[in-house]
Amino acid sequence: MDIHQSLPLLGGLSAAQFMRRHWQKKPLLVRQAIPGFVPPVLRTGVFALAAQDGVESRLVQQVDGAWKVQSGPFTRRALPPLQRPNWTLLVQGVDLHNDPVHALMQQFRFVPDARLDDVMISYASDGGGVGPHFDSYDVFLIQAHGRRRWRIGRQKDLTLRDDVPMKILANFEPEEEHVLEPGDMLYLPPGWAHDGIAEGECMTYSVGFRVPERSDLAQELLVRLADEDEGCAKPLLYRDGQQAAVEQPAEIPATLQTFARDALARALAEPRALERALGEYLTEPKANVWFEPGDARAMLEQVVLDRRTRMMYDADHLFINGESYRASGRDATLMRQLADQRQLDQHALARASDGALELLSAWCADGWAHAQPPA
Ligand code: SIN
Ligand code: CO
Repeated sequence: MDIHQSLPLLGGLSAAQFMRRHWQKKPLLVRQAIPGFVPPVLRTGVFALAAQDGVESRLVQQVDGAWKVQSGPFTRRALPPLQRPNWTLLVQGVDLHNDPVHALMQQFRFVPDARLDDVMISYASDGGGVGPHFDSYDVFLIQAHGRRRWRIGRQKDLTLRDDVPMKILANFEPEEEHVLEPGDMLYLPPGWAHDGIAEGECMTYSVGFRVPERSDLAQELLVRLADEDEGCAKPLLYRDGQQAAVEQPAEIPATLQTFARDALARALAEPRALERALGEYLTEPKANVWFEPGDARAMLEQVVLDRRTRMMYDADHLFINGESYRASGRDATLMRQLADQRQLDQHALARASDGALELLSAWCADGWAHAQPPA
């Protein structure tokens, strides 16, 4: 992607300008970000997804003025009638289930893959919405069908209502109001309060982001670093031959504290271990993802990553679906190209070593990638 090219998607800004001026800083309203947008998943598609096990969905309704939230899956009969106002169905991770929605998300890859999360689709009857709230992540709200009135504000008072089963602001103070039509898009940075209310039947596609939280990330990485250490041939046991007899048995020995500190310092000092753990963690497939085995013998003329595959790299490694490989030289260049472009054509594959081709075949057999005849 040319990050300096002006994009209709960003209202004529380039990706570089958008990131500098708006990302994590201030909202951006783009009229006709996707002119003539034809949503790849319509009402029946959203309902069909919400009926599936392994697809995360929620139904939010206002019944007699009270908010009610239920988790899916939902059969069609479990959903309210279309004519009933004030309900919305939200389906998470649609990019994992639908190629065109996955392709739509690719337009936002001017943000690193490590930060991109998913596309959520919400279907709402007239008046439907999830109430005024704020999210901890950035979001691009793309109007797919019908109209939605968004009220947004910087909101100082973050007090939440304690009488509802959801995160709803007690004293929402909107500063701006915009009615979005199909193809329009609203970008909101984290923490901006928003309330979107459907005006008639309405569908919104939200491109959401992953926000690593420091203590969660530390916990994930420490578990992985410890697991790696466990794989060592000889476990290193604490020894205290110098331990004197104690009169205060409950006191933790300082030598044990040093042993613990040393254990963590060693794990962190291990060359590339932290980077490896981070890459494996970031590319770990989501809990409800599985791959259908493919054909390893297929002629490798063109290779395309499966939409569910997460592939990233750093200076020393390639990561794919939670696995890491050391890579350097020509093969590393090729695999990085695959990770960035999510496909390799005939010309690129012609440069692949036997080892790289073997790996690609194995990934095709796992269903992580697919061999395709040249376009
Ligand atoms: C919606 O699409 O109804 C809600 C999206 C959001 O508020 O983040
Ligand atoms: Co929100």
